[in-house]
Amino acid sequence: LFFSMAGTAFVAELATLSTPPAPTGGTPFTTAPLPNDTILTMILSFPPVCLIVLCGASGSGKSTWARRHFRASQLVSSDHCREMVVDDAASQSANDDAFALFHQWIALRLKNRRLTVADSTALKPGARDRLITLAHAARVPVHVVAFDVPLDEAIRRDAQRVGRSVGEKVVTRHRATLEQALRELPKDQRLAGVHILTPEQMDSATVQTTPGAVSAPAFDVIGDVHGCLSELQTLLGKLGYSAEGKHPTGRVPVFVGDLADRGPNSPGVLRFVCDLVAKDLALFVPGNHDDKLFRMLQGGKVQRTHGLDLTEEQLLGMPEKEREHLTLDILAYLAPQPVHLVLADGTLAVAHAGIHDDMLGQSSDFITRFTRFGDVRGFEASGMPIRHDWAAEREIGDSENGPLICYGHTPQDEIRFINNTVNLDGGCVFGGFLAALRFPERELVMVPAERTYAQKRVHSEA
Ligand code: CTP
Ligand code: MG
Repeated sequence: LFFSMAGTAFVAELATLSTPPAPTGGTPFTTAPLPNDTILTMILSFPPVCLIVLCGASGSGKSTWARRHFRASQLVSSDHCREMVVDDAASQSANDDAFALFHQWIALRLKNRRLTVADSTALKPGARDRLITLAHAARVPVHVVAFDVPLDEAIRRDAQRVGRSVGEKVVTRHRATLEQALRELPKDQRLAGVHILTPEQMDSATVQTTPGAVSAPAFDVIGDVHGCLSELQTLLGKLGYSAEGKHPTGRVPVFVGDLADRGPNSPGVLRFVCDLVAKDLALFVPGNHDDKLFRMLQGGKVQRTHGLDLTEEQLLGMPEKEREHLTLDILAYLAPQPVHLVLADGTLAVAHAGIHDDMLGQSSDFITRFTRFGDVRGFEASGMPIRHDWAAEREIGDSENGPLICYGHTPQDEIRFINNTVNLDGGCVFGGFLAALRFPERELVMVPAERTYAQKRVHSEA
């Protein structure tokens, strides 16, 4: 770890939630956006506080899937409850007691507003009713993830389990009940979401949590802040936010990323935005600088260049307790945020360095890299990135029918609107200005830099 701290195990656990690391420069990508071999995956999107009910035959791979996408503490499994009650996860002898614990445990987590995954078969309507009732009593929405694994595959998966396969007869009976559930689930009005996964989708689908703030009535998209806390406060004041970051009409600030590095108070900006995101009062998409910071905080090997050295110095200058708290909050609230957002019924999209229309609503390593660095198609011998102006190349049809795409990343002397895209990076840290775009009004609000905090480099980074 880059500095010593308590709770290393917690950080290691959180590390698995963060976005994949960006390329280190060794693998240039030389093709146009979305090359043919790009594997697109389904995104399962959940609110930050909800009950996710797994539904599927025994042996279909529910627990395996859940362990891959959620923290251990978020999983409540009926098998685990059986083990807690009678020392045997496979025992059916104390079912009532095991389920009493299962429901009580879930209810307590929801009362504390913790995302919870209910890992049981939940095949019968009564089993789901029980879970839906207790979630709604805690005012928490319910999503169901159903595992549509064909019978022969479920039998094969069950049989390969060491020591606790339930057998062909049980799996066959479960599969028949599942057929019924698969018909009923999409019609169940009590559910906030139903996601039915094929075996292929079980392997490939990615999971993200989407804050409730995405359904705000209006947004203020804010360009690259880079540690300019004072300008940020002035800008938010101009936009009508209170000092705590609340807007009287429920507007939500959306940060295009690059909160830290080069500027005078990166910890202050991170603390402020983290608190807003944690309270569901702001949205944030990570940029390349944020990604590097997250990796540093997770103890990864990252070069302290492009202003990260200054951020590290500022963090180390904080009282230890505050720094530890900030580190945990950054990794808990900022690091897991999706790299792009589609808002306002698809009329607004936000991604740090931009995004192509055919990437919206999808996820892949290629798309993540694109949103961090833009359309970089390899590097020249000098190390200069070969960039394409994806915004200028946006198709007319996409410009007319697609969302307004807000991004930042490359400092501009003047805000440029082109093809229904806008780059909001006013280069505040370089003595420019901090910009916001009010949406749906499409009005720019700008605050000049109080001074020049860093010198612009001649060649840009990638
Ligand atoms: N498995 C697999 N391929 C997957 C997912 C799981 O081969 N894509 C295997 C697992 O390795 C395990 C078996 O299928 O050996 C059952 O997975 P498990 O997650 O235990 O199934 P559950 O649905 O959780 O079963 P139960 O309801 O009995 O807990
Ligand atoms: Mg299981």
